[in-house]
Amino acid sequence: MIFAANFKMNHTRTTTRDYIEVLNKKLATKKPEEKVYIFPPTTALDRYEGEITVGAQNAYPANNGAFTGEIGLEQLEEFGIKTILIGHSERRDILGETQEKVAEKFAFFKEEGFEIIYCIGESLSIRESGDDAVMSHLLSQFEGIDLTYDNLIVAYEPIWAIGTGRSATAKEIEITHAMLRTKVSAPLLYGGSVNPDNIGEITAIDNVDGVLVGSASLDAERFASMILS
Ligand code: PGA
Repeated sequence: MIFAANFKMNHTRTTTRDYIEVLNKKLATKKPEEKVYIFPPTTALDRYEGEITVGAQNAYPANNGAFTGEIGLEQLEEFGIKTILIGHSERRDILGETQEKVAEKFAFFKEEGFEIIYCIGESLSIRESGDDAVMSHLLSQFEGIDLTYDNLIVAYEPIWAIGTGRSATAKEIEITHAMLRTKVSAPLLYGGSVNPDNIGEITAIDNVDGVLVGSASLDAERFASMILS
């Protein structure tokens, strides 16, 4: 199983360091097949001890250059970062990233051999229109994306389930992941209000290879309890 923590705009450099220290201690007994990722805010990117993979929540698709406020490959390489989240709904919807831009980032970081956690997800109105509408929306988010890329992980995150405390139902996840499985052989994560109470049910669903966790990952002990459960 894959357990990925997306801190979003939470935690600082100091608290991220403390968090990773606690998590490393807690995870001393974890099974080797449990793979753990942390996506801290940009200011906390660094080289950390332990088996946890640290990745970037975002970066600009260029080595360096005149892109005010962004970081690029050069800044990630300083810390040996080789993993990135691309296509998160908050970047698409709040920060205005188009599918074209998302695909450009994907192509750039693929070329650099990054492990890419590529996020897709539908709005509530699309979910309420039924499975076919959901599928056609999710497939549109694969436009320009090389689904055969070896270092790809796909995260299905229904927007209406993110940060709302209302996870998709096991049935909804099962149907959606089964459909995605016909298109992608990469590991499939589910994200959206995953927490210690529902983690067992979610990770038991067919074609769920792991989870991407926001709010419930912010406390190291809580996140560790999900990994060890
Ligand atoms: P959440 O966020 O766990 O707080 O719903 C998940 C995500 O956006 O990755």
